[in-house]
Amino acid sequence: MKRHTIKINFSREPSGYDIVIGDGLLSQCGEWARKCLGKHPGKIVIVSNPRVFGLYGKQTEKSLRSAGYHASHFLMKDGERHKTLRTAEAALKVFAEAKLSRTDAVVALGGGVVGDLAGFTSATHLRGIPYLQIPTTLLSMIDASVGGKTGVNTASGKNLIGAFHQPRGVLIDVSVLKTLPRRELTAGLCEAIKQGAVGGGKLLVRTGDLLSAWPIGEFSRNIRNPNFKFEISNLISAHVQFKARIVAGDPQESAARIDSRSRKILNFGHTFGHALEKVTNYKRFCHGEAVGYGILFAAELSKTLALCADKDVNLLYDVVHRAGTLPRMINIDASEIFQAMHADKKNLAGSLQMVLLKGIGRPVILTGHDVPQPALKKALKRFLQEMA
Ligand code: NAD
Ligand code: GLY
Repeated sequence: MKRHTIKINFSREPSGYDIVIGDGLLSQCGEWARKCLGKHPGKIVIVSNPRVFGLYGKQTEKSLRSAGYHASHFLMKDGERHKTLRTAEAALKVFAEAKLSRTDAVVALGGGVVGDLAGFTSATHLRGIPYLQIPTTLLSMIDASVGGKTGVNTASGKNLIGAFHQPRGVLIDVSVLKTLPRRELTAGLCEAIKQGAVGGGKLLVRTGDLLSAWPIGEFSRNIRNPNFKFEISNLISAHVQFKARIVAGDPQESAARIDSRSRKILNFGHTFGHALEKVTNYKRFCHGEAVGYGILFAAELSKTLALCADKDVNLLYDVVHRAGTLPRMINIDASEIFQAMHADKKNLAGSLQMVLLKGIGRPVILTGHDVPQPALKKALKRFLQEMA
């Protein structure tokens, strides 16, 4: 099967890295790590969780060892609620005990939770050591592993502590999707729909077309079909290219930028999504599922503010529907969501910043002044009633 290599380049240090996408790449990850890291690092700590490590840890360790690395691992507990400073501290202790130096490295093997925590601890151990991303969920393949946003959640909200720290490389092996639970696929597809919504009609249509041709209900059978693996690799590659282009143009999500190609557009659906995750204690919704609702809420609000036409909103409902079933949003209090939205880090100078749509592929960033607060409250109430 064809292997895709996408380059992400920056005008300043770090200069950039490659994202490789293919089938069965994990067994060659040692060789790949050498290419990304150079000949220096001798030690690697794999950060993962028991579930992913149980499935893919041995293979990863074996390949790293045959490439000459001394490989050990740190396993965090599985789940968003463990993406905390406490877990980060435990990981940092293991790095220190392993005597990881600045010429050694960390490998993140897992979904976005593992990737964010591994990236954050790599950014802080000795003020920054190299790390590599091996994403194992669809969401982390198309989004979380690319672009160097790392972080942990705190009692105040999601990803409020973190650092920009770019990986030295990203390896995407589509064959690991065969063990991914259906819910996590839907979650990843929602994040893909988000990218399509802000990136442009083509990306959204490609995502929707794949779902029409290969229904999500048959994924576990399809993922063994070489034609499907070819199609999904192409789709992942298109999403990674889009994300890499946005990140290269605005690597640190400049606070001042509110144009339609600033990195902030990737937060479409996230103001509501993060608030929904927070008010449900990170237990009821996967991140991508919350983003799925966030996309629909942002589309509805865009319509209420007369920015976006009905047909675009309907298209988003249709594609989100094709991505699978989202858990019901019952007993969610609109005023709690409203408050949590205002605690999000996307706020600037005390004002909420929201990414809305003028149409598919036409994101617009509005501040609290442009989004009348009574209209926002009303839209929240109506949306929560309709979705319950
Ligand atoms: P996740 O990391 O929690 O993984 C979802 C579940 O799937 C977990 O239970 C995990 O153990 C399991 N899993 C992972 N790979 C598997 C596989 N191949 N087979 C079987 N099970 C597997 O969730 P996620 O959706 O990957 O990531 C969500 C996180 O990513 C959130 O914390 C979010 O904030 C973050 N995120 C970060 C960025 C970024 O730019 N840094 C972007 C988007 C999302
Ligand atoms: N997931 C949003 C970003 O990377 O900027």
